[in-house]
Amino acid sequence: MTLLLHLADFNERRWAAGFAAALPGHRVVTRADQYDPDEIDYIFIWKPKPDAFAGLKNLKAILSLGAGVDALLRNPSRPVDVPIVRFMDEDLQQRMSDYVVAQVTMHQRLITRFRRDQQARRWSQLYPAPAWDASVGIMGLGQLGLDAIKHLKVFGYKLRGWSRSAKQIEGVEVFTGTEQFEAFLNGTDILVNLLPLTPETQGILNYETFARLRRGGLDGEGPVIVNAGRGGHQKEADIVRALEDGTLKAASLDVFEVEPLPQQSPLWAMDNVYITPHIAAASSERTGVAYFSKVIRDHAAGQPLPNVIDFGRGY
Ligand code: NDP
Ligand code: OXD
Repeated sequence: MTLLLHLADFNERRWAAGFAAALPGHRVVTRADQYDPDEIDYIFIWKPKPDAFAGLKNLKAILSLGAGVDALLRNPSRPVDVPIVRFMDEDLQQRMSDYVVAQVTMHQRLITRFRRDQQARRWSQLYPAPAWDASVGIMGLGQLGLDAIKHLKVFGYKLRGWSRSAKQIEGVEVFTGTEQFEAFLNGTDILVNLLPLTPETQGILNYETFARLRRGGLDGEGPVIVNAGRGGHQKEADIVRALEDGTLKAASLDVFEVEPLPQQSPLWAMDNVYITPHIAAASSERTGVAYFSKVIRDHAAGQPLPNVIDFGRGY
């Protein structure tokens, strides 16, 4: 069995050394090594180059370091019948929930208002309403959305969620499909996006969506959005417009239409925008190597692949 690593923004050599140690008796190569494309059984990949799969005729599975596989699905050289296994584990869930909890609590405690006061050296007391007055709407009730809900529950927020298929989640008002999207938005103060990027969800964070969010919540400092899904979900010109005309009061953005976010983006200078450079959650090297080594070992022993992407749904 031969595993090829094709990673951007991560230390390919170090991950390869980890896999080599975890898979004794198997060959692990990187793009810099000499190998015969015919020998590659598995490719472990993040941010594939357009020709990433060229010549790999004997691939058994594509192993995605990312939980989101939108870039992989768009890759022009991807063999369309080879299954894709995406990464997911507790460590990644916890990191994403850390990000979501940090942003939600920050907005519920009116960070933008008090930061502006600080900048103006203004002492102006306002006691933020308690968490149970704030309504947090999670778009996407998958592995990350459900974990975020578990963590947010502890704080007492009013929780609502939106997904494609119907669900029952204790303590959460759940809305389903496009028919219930408006009702979901109408009662939401803090909108958190944890959807996968698909043709249906592309551009969903747009002006029309923002205009439907609840007005007047968060002591008049709402509504706000938090996007940790993908940049393709958001229309940045609409976010700027909504922040300027008060349709949105603030935005926490981890992902962008173009990454890195271009220098000329007006978002950089807005005092009600909280930018992070796509770091909300990353797959850990230690747990990632353990997870995919097991996937490979089990698959080689005839077990089915876990966490396989459904090509019909696109996630
Ligand atoms: P899952 O596949 O587990 O869950 C996706 C959820 O979105 C499901 O609840 C699904 O509904 C829902 N959904 C999909 N399409 C629609 C639609 N058209 N309308 C309504 N709901 C929809 O994904 P994860 O939770 O594991 O991950 C979500 C995304 O987070 C990833 O795809 C990735 O893009 C992003 N991510 C970002 C990171 C970062 O650092 N910023 C790190 C890791 C991931 P249903 O339950 O009915 O199927
Ligand atoms: C992912 C990401 O999809 O880091 O895992 O964005």
